[in-house]
Amino acid sequence: MSDDRKVLTNDAGIPVASDEYSLTVGPDGPILLQDHYLLEQMANFNRERIPERQPHAKGSGAFGYFEVTQDVSAYTKAAVFQPGVKTDVFIRFSTVAGERGSPDTWRDPRGFALKFYTTEGNFDMVGNNTPVFFVRDPMKFQHFIRSQKRRADNGLRDHDMQWDFWTLSPESAHQVTWLMGDRGIPKTWRHMNGYSSHTYMWVNAKGERFWVKYHFKTDQGIEFLTQEEADRIAGQDGDYHRRDLHMAIKEGNYPSWTLQMQIMPFEEAQNYRFNPFDLTKVWPHSDYPLHEVGKLVLNRNPTDFHTEVEQAAFEPNSFVPGTGPSPDKMLLGRLFSYADAHRARLGVNYKQIPVNKPKSPVHSYSKDGAMRVENVSDPVYAPNSKGGPAADTERYSEAAIWSASGEFMRSAYTPHKDDDDFVQANTMVNKVLDDAARDRLVSNVVGHLKQGVSEPVLERAFQYWKNIDQTIGERIEKGVRGS
Ligand code: NDP
Ligand code: HEM
Repeated sequence: MSDDRKVLTNDAGIPVASDEYSLTVGPDGPILLQDHYLLEQMANFNRERIPERQPHAKGSGAFGYFEVTQDVSAYTKAAVFQPGVKTDVFIRFSTVAGERGSPDTWRDPRGFALKFYTTEGNFDMVGNNTPVFFVRDPMKFQHFIRSQKRRADNGLRDHDMQWDFWTLSPESAHQVTWLMGDRGIPKTWRHMNGYSSHTYMWVNAKGERFWVKYHFKTDQGIEFLTQEEADRIAGQDGDYHRRDLHMAIKEGNYPSWTLQMQIMPFEEAQNYRFNPFDLTKVWPHSDYPLHEVGKLVLNRNPTDFHTEVEQAAFEPNSFVPGTGPSPDKMLLGRLFSYADAHRARLGVNYKQIPVNKPKSPVHSYSKDGAMRVENVSDPVYAPNSKGGPAADTERYSEAAIWSASGEFMRSAYTPHKDDDDFVQANTMVNKVLDDAARDRLVSNVVGHLKQGVSEPVLERAFQYWKNIDQTIGERIEKGVRGS
């Protein structure tokens, strides 16, 4: 063997005699059970795959930093958003419905999941490239995702199932319009925005509360793929978006986004014309303009896809002081779902995996469980008189709160003045899209509906679009029926 190569060992560090021949009785004889290296190779191989994420299975990520360029301390005391602060981040981009090996260019929302390694613990902003979502109650999320994935009988994706769910869920109209438009297939992950979509809370040092929405606007400019381009690329390079991000960073062409916030004073939520916590609605910019905060820059590729991307675990429940949730029911549902998914997929000690590990000190009382690798010291309970960590209630009292009262019930949100499932989709079709973009929208919907959507779903789909906009609905019907 040449001298400068490392000596092969098994996982216990013991040098291995051969990686070519198994240990046998004579040249043709049976294999011996004491060839533990062979057994280790086979056994480890059989366990290489961890479960893929249920939604958002296909994606990739990068490291970088977030730097605050403006002063928003009037709105939040969070250390990560104080003037001049620079924080390490990890981001993962993804598609929603496809599996781990599915093509990047299928029409779908894109995940935009950010982990800020702040001095006050990890802060996760788990958003999408769309400012709204398909449903507004977490009860419907699981059903929605199943309708977008594969059938039980033949394992096929099924447009009939997708439109069946959408047309029976009119609150999806805004997001479906968005998805079927140009931005439904971004050219690359670098050429799309990221949104919190949900409303969150910020709290300043005086304890004043604000409702906020995060908008990460791409500095590369918005670019999209047409359906034809996306279909062609799906056949040529299923990893088109993953490759693009990797190559851009490798070549020193670091992508960046400018974080801008919409900020609503706490008291204005109650009488705002739209329910500000309804995830199917945006806040028009004319009502709540964007406030610049800082810059997100991606400048380092992962070097181990499995440990850094596949095992990355984002959770919307990770709030740092000065940030918090809002009464958005979807968000509140997500506060449970993600950490639960990580415990199932990665094990209870997933926050000890380096990509998920806070860069600030952790002094918790969590103990043991599969794959605990950090040392735990006594005392292992609280309260204690043995010098263990103690909560600083005065400094970290729950600042991000609101109050609520009422009968227990299952109900839609109380409607606000302008609330309607179709109104903002109509604004998008008529005020945001130009003629060419409207033509592409019609063509995308017609193409989608022509692939296996049956009656009575088809008829409901025409009505759904007429509810958004009569003319667009008629054009879609004509495009599908052919007269
Ligand atoms: P504005 O005219 O102030 O903003 C229009 C928004 O639409 C911009 O954010 C723009 O993003 C975005 N946009 C442009 N083209 C498309 C497209 N093809 N698909 C999706 N988004 C697009 O309008 P309003 O704030 O009054 O909102 C009007 C409508 O715009 C809403 O009903 C909503 O459908 C859509 N929209 C609104 C957003 C918001 O947060 N208010 C965010 C995104 C969409 P950019 O500036 O990056 O080009
Ligand atoms: C991934 C649940 C809504 C963005 C996931 C995962 C689950 C989940 C279980 C897989 C997590 C994992 O295994 O690592 C839910 C539930 C929702 C919801 C229950 C609603 C009730 C949303 C919304 C957004 C979103 C509204 C965006 C605004 C994402 C992203 C990922 C993800 C970006 C991928 C994270 C990553 O890259 O690892 N979701 N989700 N989800 N979700 Fe949601």
